[in-house]
Amino acid sequence: MTAPDPLKPLRSTKVEALTEAEAAAEHAALADAIRGHDALYYREDAPVVSDAEYDALRRRYEDIEARFPGLKGEDSLTEQVGAAPVEKFGKVVHGVPMLSLANAFSDAEVEEFVARVRRFLNLKDTDEVAFTCEPKIDGLSCSLRYEAGRLQVAATRGDGQVGEDVTQNVRTIAEIPARVAAADFPEVIDIRGEVYMAAADFAALNARQAQAGEKVFANPRNAAAGSLRQLDPAITASRPLKFFAYAWGEASSLPADTQHAVVEAFARWGFPTNPLTIRATDAAGLIAHYRKIEEERALLGYDIDGVVYKVDRLDLQRRLGFVSRAPRWALAHKFPAQQATTVLDEIEIQVGRTGALTPVAKLRPVTVGGVVVSSATLHNEDEIARKDIRVGDTVVVQRAGDVIPQVVRVLTDHRPAGAEPYRFPHTCPACGSHAVREVDPKTGKEDVVRRCTGGLICPAQMVERLRHFVSRNAFDIEGLGEKQVAALYEWGLVKSPADIFTLAARNAASLQRLENREGWGKTSATNLFAAIEGRRKVSVDRFVFALGIRHVGETNAKRLMRHYSTVEALRDGALSAVMPGEEHPKGNEGWAELTGIDGIGDVVAEAVVDFFAEPRNQEVVAALLGEVEPQPMEQVAAESPVAGKTVVFTGALERMTRDEAKAMAERLGAKVAGSVSAKTDLVVAGPGAGSKLEKARGLGVEVISEEEWFERVG
Ligand code: IVH
Repeated sequence: MTAPDPLKPLRSTKVEALTEAEAAAEHAALADAIRGHDALYYREDAPVVSDAEYDALRRRYEDIEARFPGLKGEDSLTEQVGAAPVEKFGKVVHGVPMLSLANAFSDAEVEEFVARVRRFLNLKDTDEVAFTCEPKIDGLSCSLRYEAGRLQVAATRGDGQVGEDVTQNVRTIAEIPARVAAADFPEVIDIRGEVYMAAADFAALNARQAQAGEKVFANPRNAAAGSLRQLDPAITASRPLKFFAYAWGEASSLPADTQHAVVEAFARWGFPTNPLTIRATDAAGLIAHYRKIEEERALLGYDIDGVVYKVDRLDLQRRLGFVSRAPRWALAHKFPAQQATTVLDEIEIQVGRTGALTPVAKLRPVTVGGVVVSSATLHNEDEIARKDIRVGDTVVVQRAGDVIPQVVRVLTDHRPAGAEPYRFPHTCPACGSHAVREVDPKTGKEDVVRRCTGGLICPAQMVERLRHFVSRNAFDIEGLGEKQVAALYEWGLVKSPADIFTLAARNAASLQRLENREGWGKTSATNLFAAIEGRRKVSVDRFVFALGIRHVGETNAKRLMRHYSTVEALRDGALSAVMPGEEHPKGNEGWAELTGIDGIGDVVAEAVVDFFAEPRNQEVVAALLGEVEPQPMEQVAAESPVAGKTVVFTGALERMTRDEAKAMAERLGAKVAGSVSAKTDLVVAGPGAGSKLEKARGLGVEVISEEEWFERVG
């Protein structure tokens, strides 16, 4: 029932509303997710999100970078295309990078593209500019390097800069000439185009694979990619791959000065080129050809996912140049999603790593645009209600040229008698804990996502929770990273936080010792047990932060524990706020006490109550208290010169880390903020401080150095 949540980092908070710290965390999480999806798509040929969902992650990432340019490091994804090559193939550095194309989905965007090109070139109304217009082949791009008329190297796109060497495999593709003898063939040229598999060949291959009990491919693109990236060229040779040439990279000379004429030369030289290529001089002409190709699409015998427009004259292409990852002189006009009708047999609830419950439609298998679809995302509870999707319904499913299909609507005429409106479960299918939707106190609106509250007991969330539990600002157990936690969980050695503290004793009595397991040795195991022993006493706010209660980060953990002092008091306080029989507490004294704490609002209070209301969370906390001894929080020095002040640290600090600085300031009773505003009392600026420092000066906020900070606080 469990599955990773591939869109997990995608948050709903507006980018404008993010603090710098939130933005940085989200930026990093998005980068991880995008890299993961890139790897699945480019390396494994097995994507788990749709193009649209991927684009949403990417757009959010770019928006965050646009607002916080400081986050844009050297390895920013906005500077890269695709995924770095896998290790198993040799690497090929592309002399000229292989880029991607900007997308358009509407006629208006095509008109805007033509207008933009004209504007950029500063053309007069009477000046004509020609474009080529050709199908966008749904395969994988490949760069073929010819030297002295011979195919020398063939490479995949990879990350656009470095691809994989697939020369031996490409040599098995009959349509690709190994030698070209034409007099005007350049001494050196990278011929670029798309390796693809025809629909009939794909069907036959899948039939053979199924017969042999081998992997069947989801679509021709994946089959082509999987076939080209075989380590054994004999396997590639047995797969019916084809090729269309449509572009070039490095070239010692070119046979013509227009896109169209160069591709015509490709054909003369023996490369397959697409017969549906035309030239047009305005948006109307391009769109008319797009419609024609769209009509012929089903009869082509191979998958295409749109039409590509390119400025024809090469001198104009050069003037237009590139914007980040795509040429300004080209556009991919994508086809709309394809649809089919089928029956929804079941709604399965999947639980993501952060406890989000995601409904997935289990469908009678149906072919949509050449791919067999048997499940579709239903997004969330509200979507199901809005579309009134019921088990047994006949539904229209849609696939936008990619992988996760969607249910578009219900054909209510076909609804079976007695079909009941769907009731979204209020308990987690993975662990049975109650699952809740948070209410935004400002808007009064419920979050669209229902979440499992059993973070510390839910197998779907456990590894993530344990990782948080041992992380630096929580229990800070050295030697326990994500990999180690995941392995300990998988081996059944640590299934709950308290297990960490009983690990050494259990290990001593065990037949299969940790030190003999993969990835461990005597020293690492001994060090780990020592690190764990050393953390049996942690301050109570760290303890509470480590529990991973939703919305209880370090600051809120401190606020709560300054008030309640002990974990037991916090638990009892939270439980006294529960209104029997009510899903959302409110109104009684316990609630008033909790929300009376400075900085603790309804959202946090509710999360705390939800957490302790779950009996198994109480058990986990009790087990943990049997193993560790939370220490009182360091007391705030009331007399400190910064007590009650709002402080911002910016720039590089030399004598302490950011975390230390923050902890120190808070210990001294100051509030630490991430950004400068009129409410800021003091800015501590180190070398390299930028916009925050400027803003502080603009607002007349007092600015001091790190040295002065130490002088001031003693
Ligand atoms: S031109 C610099 N033409 O689409 C521009 N690309 O989304 C080079 N593709 O990576 C690309 N058919 O794999 C071009 N007729 C066509 C294409 C085409 C398919 C692919 C290609 C590219 C991707 C970008």
